Amino acid sequence: MMADKNEWGSNLSFIFAMIGSAVGLGNIWRYPYVLYSNGGGAFYIPYIVAILLMGIPFLILEYGVGYDFKSSFAKAVKKIDSKFEYLGWFLPVCVFVIMIYYAAILGWDGIYVILSFFKGWGADPSTFFTASLIQDSKNYMGLFHFLPIIAIAMLAGWIIVWCISHKDLEKGLGRVSKVLVPLLFIIMVLIVGFSLTLPGASIGLSELFNPNWALLFDFKIWMAAFGQIVFSLSLGMSIAFTYASYTKDDTDLITNTLSIVFANSLFENFAALGVFSILGYMSLQSGTPVAELVTQGTGLVFNAYPIVFNVLGQLGYVLGPMFFLTIYLAGLTSILSTIEPLSFSIQNKFGLSRSRTMTILIIIGAFLSMIYATSFGADLLGYVDTFINQIALLFGVVIECIIFAWIFHAEKLIDFLNSRSKTIKIGKWWIIIVKYILPIFILIVWFGGVIEVMATSSVDQTNFTIATAIIVLVATVILTKLPAKSPDWDKSDERV
Ligand code: PFF
Repeated sequence: MMADKNEWGSNLSFIFAMIGSAVGLGNIWRYPYVLYSNGGGAFYIPYIVAILLMGIPFLILEYGVGYDFKSSFAKAVKKIDSKFEYLGWFLPVCVFVIMIYYAAILGWDGIYVILSFFKGWGADPSTFFTASLIQDSKNYMGLFHFLPIIAIAMLAGWIIVWCISHKDLEKGLGRVSKVLVPLLFIIMVLIVGFSLTLPGASIGLSELFNPNWALLFDFKIWMAAFGQIVFSLSLGMSIAFTYASYTKDDTDLITNTLSIVFANSLFENFAALGVFSILGYMSLQSGTPVAELVTQGTGLVFNAYPIVFNVLGQLGYVLGPMFFLTIYLAGLTSILSTIEPLSFSIQNKFGLSRSRTMTILIIIGAFLSMIYATSFGADLLGYVDTFINQIALLFGVVIECIIFAWIFHAEKLIDFLNSRSKTIKIGKWWIIIVKYILPIFILIVWFGGVIEVMATSSVDQTNFTIATAIIVLVATVILTKLPAKSPDWDKSDERV
């Protein structure tokens, strides 16, 4: 009975949910800046290499194994080799940690959706964000200063997530993705179409795409391209694995991979056009060079953009709400995916229903997320994000390559994947990539990231990184050691 509660109603639901997971804040507030600061037009070379060498081959691998096992990540990894059950829990736990801080960002953005109707951030948006809204303490004593408005906004997000996720997969996530993801694309097209008509748009765009070919010989931009693709496509996070395990028996996984990778890149390049046209407009109005206006992350969304909407006059009242709503939808469709790997793994091991597991996890998540509704929340979020993205998840990609390509023997999947594929066929080149090139390359990127984090961390950051690592590891050990309750936990559901 559990299978149908965890099965997509159609291939379209799978594709849209997967695009929803991939298209998120990384595409809107991260990619435009990464493109700009890593060689502009020249960045497309490492970017395309990263897509061909990593995005597509790795997604096919995660999908193939997930489809084959038709079960959760933890259960499949344990089936491949029971010694690895720890790893089977480690990644879903990391992704759940992402969910908890994504809820905070969603909460901030939710507040801005409302503020944008009356430009409630006032004449100085930067001071409004840091001093009035998040009341940044820059000191861990701020953990004792609770911010009720942020807590309420976050709880609203958790309630929306619960309403969707506790239902059967197709009735909740499947249906919602089929509505929200197309809506997200439509609003984005409208915003970008309008931005391109603004005076000064071409100034921003020529800054953005102006190629710096010399940077091609700098390892940094290759690392940036691979890092962006891992984050943007949510690779190695056990999400793609889980979504593929929910598919019906006749899915064409290779063609789906191509569609999802294409849609994700289309969206982020579109976002870059919009962001830089608007920055060009801003530059023309203020006389400040584009280079001094560009930022990423919260700086772009909660500081630079509100300034633009202030300058835009009446139009700001239309564009503002549309922009913050786009971010909300992008964040929502991503956060919905972050609960699936852990939830499905728990359902499989402990025999709990989907609905009950989701309810329990969401209550735990909402409770833990309150740490971000404090004056130290934004700093803490940065630390946890650095640990998860730069250290834990890249490591996850390497581990998945080893377990899936080497121990599981990915070769087993080739004939079956090709027999379904209406587009490209995979062969020896795929095996060489997933067995050798990818793990080695990602390991190098991973070391680079770890060294950078160690070199640039403050004492607070180091302490909180260690604390996050301990919490993740303790949760992993508990989930691994707890005895299974479901009689199916040791049963194999392999399809191929
Ligand atoms: N891929 C999403 C983005 O580009 O914003 C981010 C993301 C979603 C990261 C889900 C991690 C995750 F588990």
